Amino acid sequence: MRKPRFIAKQGRKPSGLLGQIVVRVMATETADENAFALDLLQLQPQDAVLEIGSGHGDTLAKAANVVSRGSLCGIDFSTVMHRHAMRRHRRLVAEKRIEFHFGSSDQLPFDNQSFDKVFAVHTVYFWEKPLDHLAEARRVLKPGGRFVVGFRPAEDTGFRATYPSEIYNIRSEAEIAQLVRDSDFEAVALRRHTRGALQFSFVIGTSTPREGCQPEATRS
Ligand SMILES: C[S@@+](CC[C@H](N)C(=O)[O-])C[C@H]1O[C@@H](n2cnc3c(N)ncnc32)[C@H](O)[C@@H]1O
Repeated sequence: MRKPRFIAKQGRKPSGLLGQIVVRVMATETADENAFALDLLQLQPQDAVLEIGSGHGDTLAKAANVVSRGSLCGIDFSTVMHRHAMRRHRRLVAEKRIEFHFGSSDQLPFDNQSFDKVFAVHTVYFWEKPLDHLAEARRVLKPGGRFVVGFRPAEDTGFRATYPSEIYNIRSEAEIAQLVRDSDFEAVALRRHTRGALQFSFVIGTSTPREGCQPEATRS
């Protein structure tokens, strides 16, 4: 059944009382594909990680189980989401293991080359000009870093039939992969995941390692 516009709008930017309900439902509904995204990131204990459209913050809280010496940052432009994440994960925030920032992903408040890993799940649909957001993700990624964008693709016909296209920009796997390539990411790869009848696609991009730098294990 097609989602009414007012519900679809809550997916884009949860707000008001309804937003406070949506945030709780979303945290449970998307946990599976977010866990898949964390696997694709190949997290290391010392990583600096950024989640774009971090919403409820539960995915970063899970990442904290692996990222014990690094840093975890989320950014979201919904006040409801930002407040909820700060409250729900207050212990990790107080311990300075996670920071939740309020802001939009086309103007990330971070220096160039700040993060080893950057990811965004179920957020790309809301980017009218995706290259502006992807360029920012690329800018803040360190050389040798890894980027993962997770989404339901246009190939999932159930998705297209359910979500209104005036709010959800539903793109094909090939379109997202091309946008990631056009944003200067390298070694672009695609992974798929399913949950029941739902299809999820993940485009992975990397940034070129600094010249002359080799991973520890390959140094002679
Ligand atoms: C559908 S929710 C997904 C939340 C979470 N990533 C997940 O998978 O459960 C999309 C989130 O992205 C946020 N968002 C959308 N566009 C954004 C933008 N331009 N900048 C920052 N956050 C954005 C929304 O506020 C919302 O919290």
